[in-house]
Amino acid sequence: MIHYPLSTTHYQRGALLILGMANDTPKILDGKVTARTIKASLKAEIESLQSRMGRPPGLAVLLVGDDPASAVYVRNKQKACDRIGITSFGRTFPASTEQAELEDTIHALNQDERVDGILVQLPLPHHLDAVALLHHIDPRKDVDGLHATNLGKLVRSEMGLRSCTPEGVMALLKEYDIEISGKNAVVVGRSILVGKPMALMLLEANATVTIAHSRSQNLSEITRSADILVSAVGRPQMITSEWVKPGAVVIDVGINRIIDHEGKGKLVGDVDFEALKPICSAITPVPGGIGPMTVAILLQNTVWSYRQKIA
Ligand code: GUN
Repeated sequence: MIHYPLSTTHYQRGALLILGMANDTPKILDGKVTARTIKASLKAEIESLQSRMGRPPGLAVLLVGDDPASAVYVRNKQKACDRIGITSFGRTFPASTEQAELEDTIHALNQDERVDGILVQLPLPHHLDAVALLHHIDPRKDVDGLHATNLGKLVRSEMGLRSCTPEGVMALLKEYDIEISGKNAVVVGRSILVGKPMALMLLEANATVTIAHSRSQNLSEITRSADILVSAVGRPQMITSEWVKPGAVVIDVGINRIIDHEGKGKLVGDVDFEALKPICSAITPVPGGIGPMTVAILLQNTVWSYRQKIA
């Protein structure tokens, strides 16, 4: 249920939306605050489990090469681990690293009892085969949910480790009581990291799901049919007001660095946030939307995998 300000009745709001007129107070879906709540509860859970487990949970994030954005993401993940009591076993490799060395590293981490989660930061340098590498991760430690076993479990709606970003989107929609069942959901992007698992999770929640991508024709017509629009394409501010139905819920997964008109570096999403704010009923900001949720779910997956060892 989307809550509107008291000054406008549902009836008036509906009329405004039909006319395509302003909705100047959309709900801002605050990923930072929601992620903070998740992390606080994980921290407490780790504290209570540690004496039974005899060790803290452990996460290994592997970074290959010197992509600056990836380095920032990995640093954020490690900082988040430190804050809630997860030990980091991260390693950084030069861009020239061979596939076999990474496979050996993953095999060693699979055997390491202190490690509950393994994540290979994507994208990898072009000479490496990411999909093949992900197959080497023990599915029980696959906290990114990208191993074929975990993606297969998702297709079958079975419990298992699930991709962090789409799981973060679902958690945020739940936090804000946004109804999914019966809604038209459009996911723009078809990666295994976001687009495909996102579509499956929305389908599991009974949405009618369309996946659009770079070869889709009449893309803006498709996005305009969405009650819930998720964009994960990595194109700065591609989604403008003409692409969105009034009253839609807009989830921006893109994180793009641009240089603004004053020559300063700035992070923006796939969505033109300011242009869409008056139109949609709810929207995620960038930064502070899905980014922090991805990290929180990664930690949640690591603690889940840790907890499985008790059984
Ligand atoms: N690169 C950007 N986001 C992610 C993520 O969630 N997981 C991995 N493995 N790589 C990423």
